[in-house]
Amino acid sequence: MQNNIRPDSMARINSKALADAFIAEQVNEIRAQVGDKKVLLALSGGVDSSVVAALLIKAIGKQLVCVHVNHGLMRKDESENVIKLFKDGMDANLIYVDATDRFLGLLADVSDPESKRKIIGAEFINVFADEARKLEGIEFLAQGTIYPDILESIKQAEGKKAVKSHHNVGGLPEDLQFELVEPLKLLFKDEVRVVGEALGLPHAMVYRQPFPGPGLGVRCLGAITRDRLNALREADAILREEFDINGLAEKVWQYFVVIPDIKSVGVKDESRYEGWPAIIRAVNTVDAMSATIEEIPYAVLHKITARITNEVEGINRVLYDLTPKPSGTIEWE
Ligand code: XMP
Repeated sequence: MQNNIRPDSMARINSKALADAFIAEQVNEIRAQVGDKKVLLALSGGVDSSVVAALLIKAIGKQLVCVHVNHGLMRKDESENVIKLFKDGMDANLIYVDATDRFLGLLADVSDPESKRKIIGAEFINVFADEARKLEGIEFLAQGTIYPDILESIKQAEGKKAVKSHHNVGGLPEDLQFELVEPLKLLFKDEVRVVGEALGLPHAMVYRQPFPGPGLGVRCLGAITRDRLNALREADAILREEFDINGLAEKVWQYFVVIPDIKSVGVKDESRYEGWPAIIRAVNTVDAMSATIEEIPYAVLHKITARITNEVEGINRVLYDLTPKPSGTIEWE
């Protein structure tokens, strides 16, 4: 599948049978492209890179070398789950890199959102390149590029400006210019999910909400500190747990917590308690270009508020963001 344009004749993959046919075709194509060489993949644990990993493991097994970079901005248990699923569950050749200190060191005192994104994107490439240089015999780089990414690049090549700079590993240095393997590049997201399930990935993984590349870094507003980042991670885990328990996880496209760099006065154990507010955002959208606000039952909001303020150190208020996109963007940064 060398062409970057999806042919009109290509059927929408919306059934297990069509997904199985796509997988069989891709397994053959990947084997033909790669031969007995090794392929490197940055496995974030997001839907796209996970489906690429599962597909390549099926096609070439241990010739695929996955590198999972933990930038310290992951959600709670996220890296552990990647290891469990791929290394323990699928016997993947997986290298785990905990680069938390590198990232948080560079981000200390940086408050501008686009600077934060650029630092995270560039450092991601540095860490990944460092790992790649340690490996021998790699000739290919697999990427979870999907068709909307191709359409976005075409738009940008035509001079249209992106609102926020997203990152992937496209910008590797000169000495690491590998041939690309991009088996999902003609698929839309819904098709990637169908293929993922056909490959045996868990439903919750394949249908999980999108998570930005810079992770919690753009939700811990302004300059990131470890204590506020930890509070964000814990509060976000509670929000996700309550959305699961209350049947909202399947109804809401994206939901998360944001913590601004401000404190307000509160009270705890009859004493003054200055803490951060946790802001809840829950939006529905078709294409992320615009978004509406989901109505969350008050009882659920009360429960989340009680749990976050009781269980998370440093948070004394919970707010619900009612702003659609526009005028807000989905993320706060
Ligand atoms: P916004 O905030 O622009 O977000 O309304 C639209 C969608 O994109 C995600 N997003 C990102 N994804 N890198 C990513 O990979 C980024 O830097 C980034 N910023 C926003 C956001 O979570 C939402 O789904």
